[in-house]
Amino acid sequence: MSNFSRRKAISLGAVGTAGVAATILTQGKQNQVQSEPLSQPEVNPDGRFADRVVLITGATSGIGEATARAFAAEGATVHFCGRREQLGQQVAQSITDAGGKATYQKADVRIEDEVRAFVDSCIQSYGKIDIAFNNAGIVNPKAVPLAEQSLEDWQNVMTTNATGYFLAMKYEIPHLLKNEPGGNYGTRGVIVNNASVSAHIGFPGISPYSSSKHAVVGMTKCAALEYGKQGIRINSISPGAVNTPMRRTAYENQGLPQGDPLPDPPNIVNRANTPEEMADIVMLLASSDISYILGTDIDVTTGMLTGLLTV
Ligand SMILES: NC(=O)c1ccc[n+]([C@@H]2O[C@H](COP(=O)([O-])OP(=O)(O)OC[C@H]3O[C@@H](n4cnc5c(N)ncnc54)[C@H](OP(=O)(O)O)[C@@H]3O)[C@@H](O)[C@H]2O)c1
Repeated sequence: MSNFSRRKAISLGAVGTAGVAATILTQGKQNQVQSEPLSQPEVNPDGRFADRVVLITGATSGIGEATARAFAAEGATVHFCGRREQLGQQVAQSITDAGGKATYQKADVRIEDEVRAFVDSCIQSYGKIDIAFNNAGIVNPKAVPLAEQSLEDWQNVMTTNATGYFLAMKYEIPHLLKNEPGGNYGTRGVIVNNASVSAHIGFPGISPYSSSKHAVVGMTKCAALEYGKQGIRINSISPGAVNTPMRRTAYENQGLPQGDPLPDPPNIVNRANTPEEMADIVMLLASSDISYILGTDIDVTTGMLTGLLTV
């Protein structure tokens, strides 16, 4: 297959996600994407994050939900948000039913008061935050060139994906700074921001989304330098294609076949990554095993960026 065809296939995948968020973007209405909760891995109360409190934005579905479940399975106490209240309660209940510790609070990351209240409620309930995974995100609903993007869609994507991450870090960091330094390197806390392959390369049709994800990587680097000496490790991850409700609906909208292999997947494993695989990377970054890594973005595209158009 020619490089042109491969680029088109990559673009289809990325642009396709834009269709999914159409319902998210309309006047603050809740995301209508159907989502069945993921399965809960067996809980080990004495697992490797047993004494840790983990805050996650956007864990009502997808990568955030898988990460909430994975941390809870390793004994962590998880506090998460999202706008879909019923789904949030359902995910929290499912984790609790399995013997894990998780609570949901409704919060919209576009609204400063709600982000502050979400962070504060974690402190009130659990006394601290050790690890934060900032993940809540959307894509622009119309896959059109920049001049045809509406200001409303631009602002909504930027407010969710850029301002939302800024607000989350703004209110998380002061609490992380209060933790006692621990481990060999005096770590007080860890933040992982969910960026994207679109934080590194452009795809036609998603200028708002791509711009917002570039902003995530930028603020990650600055904040990592600002707070690294005080023991806070801040990094980001950049997934490529992940099988989440967002992506499944995107394929459906375009009439593309579901399941694996994906149409001409431009990665090394010939399939979309799973949300659970992304959760593994977040946990790796959050663990004390790699305490010297900060201010970096981890490419978790399974080769999409490394071997762009050549896989
Ligand atoms: N799937 C991929 O291929 C892929 C690739 C690269 C990066 N990512 C990134 O991964 C992150 C998670 O996406 P996903 O693929 O897991 O899709 P998803 O299943 O749609 O998850 C998005 C999450 O963000 C939450 N959210 C959206 N807007 C919010 C708001 N204003 N306030 C609070 N929560 C909000 C949603 O909850 P509510 O709807 O309940 O509010 C949901 O929990 C996003 O940042 C996305 O850009 C995904």
